[in-house]
Amino acid sequence: MSLLDRLFSKEIQRRTGAHAIHIYIEDEKNARKRSRSLGSIALNEASKHTRITTKQEKISFLRRLDIRFPWLKLAAVLVIGIIAILNLCDVTVPRANDPFDKIKIAPMAHHVRVTERILTGKKLVALTFDDGPSNLTTPRLLDVLHEKDVHATFFMLGYMARANTDIVKRAKKEGHIIASHTMYHKNLPTLSYDGIKNEVNEANSILKNATGQNPALIRPPYGNINDNVRKIANTPLILWSVDTRDWESKNPQSIVSVAMSQVHDGAIILMHDIYSTSVDAIPNLVDTLRKNGYEFVTVPELAKIRGVNLTKGNIYYNFRP
Ligand code: NI
Repeated sequence: MSLLDRLFSKEIQRRTGAHAIHIYIEDEKNARKRSRSLGSIALNEASKHTRITTKQEKISFLRRLDIRFPWLKLAAVLVIGIIAILNLCDVTVPRANDPFDKIKIAPMAHHVRVTERILTGKKLVALTFDDGPSNLTTPRLLDVLHEKDVHATFFMLGYMARANTDIVKRAKKEGHIIASHTMYHKNLPTLSYDGIKNEVNEANSILKNATGQNPALIRPPYGNINDNVRKIANTPLILWSVDTRDWESKNPQSIVSVAMSQVHDGAIILMHDIYSTSVDAIPNLVDTLRKNGYEFVTVPELAKIRGVNLTKGNIYYNFRP
């Protein structure tokens, strides 16, 4: 790979969060430099890998141009190089909560066409994990999710997150959504207004310390909500539509069959990452869901694709089409 190739793919990798970048140059060697400037990029996010293909007709046009103006290719390489370097120095790229921001590529916009991950019209499901992070089970879950190329939504307890800050950071870095399950897993409707406020705010500040952002979603323990909870929560309240009851069965096969019997397009699946049996279930669950045509998204992605504007204090169980 040339230096320019490396700069180029590094930049795309930074902006997409893709695990790997494959560059396919489909023309002969001497078209390579030209193809960089006028090539078009198709970003295939379905597999989290980026594929870059060149446009043949543009290349032949350039070849004609090259014969007429032999100095053009040097100028083009210089310009692209400068643009690439300027883009690498760009620190104002939006890094919002919105997970879709990371797959919108801004640089070299007039040279590069990006096809966003096509998920419209597909069957979607969001895996969610509550009550962690645990240093005994969550790192292995993150390994499995990474290997399976799945992003999940973690509803973390404040006191668990405080004890395992490194795991919170790792989960965020690997593309998962860090959300709140409150501080100590109390039954919120039994608490006073101030009691609920403490449960919510303490967890928020711990998660903010670890990730740099307030959690964008809350799942109240046991799914129990009253008016005070809705008032105090500064975020949407996310419940679930598929309850694997993994904490009860502690049996990977049963977890998979319960999930498969209830799953539907737009489902939010409830699991707990503090049980090793739940982690054991994930490879088979992911494979089985994929075999049945499901794609994995995080909760905010699911809402966005289904055109739902998440509103604070509102309760969401699923995002059916
Ligand atoms: Ni819980």
